[in-house]
Amino acid sequence: MSVGLSRFDDLICATPKPLAQRLIPLRQKRTRYHAQMIDSLIIGFDRALRTLSGNVQPTRLAPGENLPEPELSPEQRRQAGGLMRVNHTGEVCAQALYAAQALVARDPAIKERFAAAARDEEDHLAWTQQRLAALGDRTSLLNPLWYAGAFAIGVAAGFAGDRTNLGFVVETERQVEEHLTGHIDRLPAADTKSLAIVEQMRDDEVRHGAMALEAGAAPVPSPVKYLMRRAADVMRAIAYRI
Ligand SMILES: [Fe+2]
Ligand SMILES: [Fe+2]
Repeated sequence: MSVGLSRFDDLICATPKPLAQRLIPLRQKRTRYHAQMIDSLIIGFDRALRTLSGNVQPTRLAPGENLPEPELSPEQRRQAGGLMRVNHTGEVCAQALYAAQALVARDPAIKERFAAAARDEEDHLAWTQQRLAALGDRTSLLNPLWYAGAFAIGVAAGFAGDRTNLGFVVETERQVEEHLTGHIDRLPAADTKSLAIVEQMRDDEVRHGAMALEAGAAPVPSPVKYLMRRAADVMRAIAYRI
């Protein structure tokens, strides 16, 4: 009898232990995931504030920094200002997209690639902002709206999975490259400082697209490409003026 009770007690006492032990790593994993999410949210919030307040510091000198300030007519200055405002808004959107995608990406290696690209985008943001100030122009009044829209799109792409997320980056960077090539043709030839910035941005965007492709990007369906193009057209047309 005493032997049976002892075995029964042993069974009772022994059963919860392995279960509890199995739950510990799960709890630790969940706690780590929540801590990482909170970190990412804080970093993302800080990024949004810095982007929208204009408090950004480039890590690289602006291309064309040593070129003399060109003599521009009022019309050339207005044209360069409008185009550089569009480019600045594009970089505001890039900040939002990369912040959102880094937040929801699952693979830490992909998160790190997004973070590296986002550092380049911060340079672009600072350079275009500095150039607008030198041209006596301003950033878009609707930047908070563009940021919110791009962030929502980035989260949606991120939830679709890492490969789709990367595919979205490839397509975005490809469209941005085309758009910047168009701006190189439209900027006044005399505005060598703006041109130097846009040319370096284009080189960086090509590198970001290649990085995402190499990391295993999935192709983006044609209707999504079409919608991305139309949304960018609307943003460009409005940001040129407002
Ligand atoms: Fe950029
Ligand atoms: Fe980029």
